[in-house]
Amino acid sequence: MYEPIQVAPDVYWVGAIDWNERNFHGYTTDRGSTYNAYLIMDESITLIDTVKPGFAPEMFERIRAIVDPSRIDYLISNHVEQDHSGSIPDVMACAPHAKLITSSPNGLKGLQAHYGTSYDYQPVKSGDTLSIGKRTLQFVHIPMVHWPDSMVTYDAADQILFSNDAFGQHLASSERFDDQIDLPTVMEQATKYYANIVMPYCMQVQRALEACASLDIGMIAPCHGIIWRSHCADILASYHVWSTQQLEERALVVYDSMWHSTEHMAQAIVNAFTDADIPVRLFDLKCNHISDIMTEILSSRYLAVGSPTLNSTMMPTVAAFLCYLKGLMPRGMSDSGRMGFAFGSYGWAPLGPKSVASGLEAAGYQQPFGPCTHQWTLDAVDCEKLRNDVAARLKAMN
Ligand code: FEO
Repeated sequence: MYEPIQVAPDVYWVGAIDWNERNFHGYTTDRGSTYNAYLIMDESITLIDTVKPGFAPEMFERIRAIVDPSRIDYLISNHVEQDHSGSIPDVMACAPHAKLITSSPNGLKGLQAHYGTSYDYQPVKSGDTLSIGKRTLQFVHIPMVHWPDSMVTYDAADQILFSNDAFGQHLASSERFDDQIDLPTVMEQATKYYANIVMPYCMQVQRALEACASLDIGMIAPCHGIIWRSHCADILASYHVWSTQQLEERALVVYDSMWHSTEHMAQAIVNAFTDADIPVRLFDLKCNHISDIMTEILSSRYLAVGSPTLNSTMMPTVAAFLCYLKGLMPRGMSDSGRMGFAFGSYGWAPLGPKSVASGLEAAGYQQPFGPCTHQWTLDAVDCEKLRNDVAARLKAMN
């Protein structure tokens, strides 16, 4: 029932498809995911990464269609996180003689912390190679893309980069390759993946891209989603653009509201961006998940965030959004060029919008003007005044 897919002569995808995954520690995965493992049938039989706990039977069924898994000689673990390492105990139980290859020192530390010290570990440094017969595999460390242990494995004979999380997408599909499926769908999921998992580590991504630049890459085989073989240059170029924070002149207005006053302000601010010739999208936090908003944050220069005052601070939905935003903002780039401002209504103290301004500052946004606030409700004249004021400030910035 579960069959392997050949990706190159004697190289097979033997992973698992998780059609029902909907939440990956807070990141909504509306299209499910896959956990990609790869089997190389050379003189030494080599398995690259495993699958999330619970999916081992699916992986083993695919492997058994090719070879008895007890014959696996090497198990390469590119990354300790359990969606890839979680079935290592199952593989090692089947093939106890197998050497377990992992990065040194962080992969070794992580695997031993998770699975004990009894396996035959072979830690490797960046640049180390392993001959498995006709092929020589090369290991390249890519620390903090997105864990300290992360590494990729390069198969020069087949020009395949087994990239683990890098270049992945949470996308369940029966298709395995980028030229078999609608490319915009793959790119949309790759963008969401970068924004929600990789974005804090832009500088490390640039170093990883430099480290891989000397490799002749014909195929990128990540551990989630579709394998890149016809659009490798596109995803590499996208990672370059995202990691160098090349922002577009686009705006997002993100808010929550209690009795519609902050909502009316949000609508007026949308009109203000339009007046300033800046394309804009509106996100009500009651209707949009923060992980979807992050996909838009990735490349948008402008962000307006609104909350009324509730219990002397901002609404919890807005606080959660700003907390998530702060965590994902790239570190080590003091002047990202991101511009933001806070807004919101209040009854007797504008503490909600002031809290939002603090959250934007903590996330690294420059705020060219202070919070836009309004006491109680807005009528049409108030909305028009806010629109004109904000539009004038936006035009003055450009
Ligand atoms: Fe897909 Fe960091 O695990």
